[in-house]
This record gives sequence, C-alpha cells and structure tokens, in this order.
Amino acid sequence: MNLPATSHTDLPAVPPAQTANPHWQRLGGHDAVVRLVEAFYRAMDTRPDAATIRAMHADNLGPTKQVLVTYLTEWLGGPKAYSAERGSPMLRRRHQPFQIDAAARDAWMACMHQALAETCADAELRAQLDAAFYKVADFIRNADAGGHSRPHPGRPMEVNPQAVPATHSST
Ligand code: HEM
Repeated sequence: MNLPATSHTDLPAVPPAQTANPHWQRLGGHDAVVRLVEAFYRAMDTRPDAATIRAMHADNLGPTKQVLVTYLTEWLGGPKAYSAERGSPMLRRRHQPFQIDAAARDAWMACMHQALAETCADAELRAQLDAAFYKVADFIRNADAGGHSRPHPGRPMEVNPQAVPATHSST
C-alpha cells in the first residue's frame, strides 16, 4: 500500500521528553541525580542514626551508587536504563536479604531528607519527592520492631512520584 507523503508539519506535536517526565527534569536531569545520590550516601556514611543501615552495605559504595543513580533516573521519569540492565525493579524482593524495620526505614529517610535538602533548592519538589520516597521505603519494610517478618503489604508500590500526595505522615 502506498501511503501519502506526509510532511513533518502535518504531524501532531510531540511533547518534549521533559513534559512527560517533570520530576527528573525539574530536579535537573542526570547531574542532579548524581549529586543527590552522592549526598545520600555521604549522609549514610556519617550519620550515627544510619550506622545500622550503612553496615548492610558493602564497604565500597561505588557500584551501589551507580545502580541507585540508574534506578532513580528511571523512577523520576528519565531514561529507562535500570529496567534494561537489571529487569523489573521488584524492590521489596531485592531488599528481602536485609532486615528492614521502621527504624531502618526512618534512617534511610533521614539520609534522603538530608540529601534532598543539600541538593534540591525547589521546596515543593523536595516535599513531593520526600513523600514519594517514604511510600517506597515503607513498602520495602519487611520486619517489625521485634525482628519478625512483615508480610507483603499488597501490590507493588514502585509508583511514579507524581502519583503520591505532597505530604505524608510517618506515624
Ligand atoms: C527502607 C530502608 C532501606 C534500606 C535499609 C535499604 C538498603 C539497601 C541495601 C543494603 C541494598 C544493597 C546494596 C548493595 O548491594 O550494594 C539496597 C539496594 C538497593 N536499594 Fe535500598 N534500602 C532501603 C530503601 C530503599 C528505597 C526507598 C529505594 C528506592 C527509592 C531503594 C533502592 C534501592 C536500589 C535500586 C537498590 C539496588 C537494587 C538492585 O540490585 O538492582 N532502597 N538497599
């Protein structure tokens, strides 16, 4: 079948990539994600309240940083390199080897909160991302305070930050 010749001006306007992924773009793209991840692990390395979760990680954080950059890039709506390299995130399953209770969740959140404060000047974006991170961190929680395992809470919570309300309660 011969299709009629179509000039580019006949094509519907395609929104630029940043319209489809506002969080990645709003944060500042690749370099900003790298700065966030560096600040996050710096906080984990130095905060006394993060010592327990730091000990869950290898001494050399280099490879972990790279994976987190790739994951967050995709989660924030940027290029989808994580899924291409590592498959479906399945974050709860990938964290199953570690005992993650409310204290571990809160320590992770404290590091991320500090990292966002250091690297993201947009207060509204910070609040949105903080709320979205909390949802994922709480979903990953797999132990209660007594160390007993916590059953899977339901369907996956690897949601786009846009779907999460701007505020949350950690109580
Ligand atoms: C709730 C507290 C959390 C703890 C204690 C924790 C701890 C860990 C540890 C120990 C690893 C393994 C690191 C390594 O192999 O070098 C890991 C991997 C990872 N974590 Fe977390 N994490 C938490 C929450 C989160 C959250 C909220 C996210 C995402 C928003 C996340 C994203 C990841 C990713 C993407 C990986 C690598 C997965 C892969 O191997 O592909 N983590 N985490």
